[in-house]
Amino acid sequence: MGVFCLSAIALPLLVAIISAVHGCPPSDREALLVLSSSLEDPYLGIFDSWKGTDCCSNWYGISCDPTTHRVTDVSLRGESEDPILHKNGRPGSGFMSGSINPSICQLNRLTALIIADWKGIAGEIPQCVVSLPDLRVLDLIGNSLSGKIPEQIGNLQKLTVLNLADNKISGEIPSSLVQLSSLKHLGLSNNLLTGEIPANLGNLKMLSRALLSRNQLSGTIPSSIGKMSRLADLDLSINKLWGQIPKELGNMRVLSTLNLDSNMISGQIPSVVLANTGLGILNLSRNSLEGEIPDVFGPKSYYMALDLSFNNLKGPVPRSISSAKYIGHLDLSHNHLCGSIPVGSPFDHLEASSFDSNDCLCGNPLKTC
Ligand SMILES: *[C@@H]1O[C@H](CO)[C@@H](O)[C@H](O)[C@H]1NC(C)=O
Repeated sequence: MGVFCLSAIALPLLVAIISAVHGCPPSDREALLVLSSSLEDPYLGIFDSWKGTDCCSNWYGISCDPTTHRVTDVSLRGESEDPILHKNGRPGSGFMSGSINPSICQLNRLTALIIADWKGIAGEIPQCVVSLPDLRVLDLIGNSLSGKIPEQIGNLQKLTVLNLADNKISGEIPSSLVQLSSLKHLGLSNNLLTGEIPANLGNLKMLSRALLSRNQLSGTIPSSIGKMSRLADLDLSINKLWGQIPKELGNMRVLSTLNLDSNMISGQIPSVVLANTGLGILNLSRNSLEGEIPDVFGPKSYYMALDLSFNNLKGPVPRSISSAKYIGHLDLSHNHLCGSIPVGSPFDHLEASSFDSNDCLCGNPLKTC
């Protein structure tokens, strides 16, 4: 009887104490509730799970530090395999509108802020995110965010992923960006960025992917990029870049994809770039490149795609290209090339369209010489 009484009173008390100890701090909970009140989720009801005092337990997309119970991750992805996304009838694709409330910055132990692929989320990136000292991942891809990249973004010394692609972000790339010494992935593609690529972008020593395509970036390609020894993927396509291709890009050991297409790049293709045997995809299409195609292919050349179309290249198709190990997709069309097309295994599968609209090319797959 006595034991029963004790447990009848003590158990609920104990539960209350435990959940208070293990729950998130009220200020973190409050910051999340303000965030959710400025986002509109008309289809999925994600924020229906954001109820109760403990934001660390079963709040969709929220993770906490197991010891301090501070919120460490806000991860809301509109395109994923998550079953919650199958509710709106279009599996794998979500929609939200509203904006990202600066209340997020009160979560000052945040390591990941991912609010991605919701299409309709607009407004600016809160400037105060630069004061989140532990932030490692800032991924806001696929929304309708406008305004500028926060000027002091370089403060985020632990940042490894900065992905703001597919938004409406304008203004220039802040010069402080080159101070992000831990950055591995930079995604700024498909925005409205103007101005030049910072000349010392090459300071980003840890960077493995730099994706800046489909903006209005102007000026020249910084030769400092050649110092990025871990860079595997460089995409500067569909901008307004001019000047020459820096020969420094030819010395990059792990560079495997180089897309510079649809710019206003001029001069000759540096031999060292074409001879960089690590390159598997090279797209220089739709520029103003001139001179001859360097005759520097060899048995280690292995191109999944080599697109030099729509330039002012002249002279022959280089003989050495027939010694390449593999050329999957070759496009030399819309240039001023002339002469006989080499024979060899890389050419066996190519169609006439690879050589279309040149001055006087001949031989298989075109008419015989
Ligand atoms: C190269 O870039 C051009 C223009 O931006 C594009 O049309 C073409 O499909 C690209 N080539 C390859 C092989 O991806």
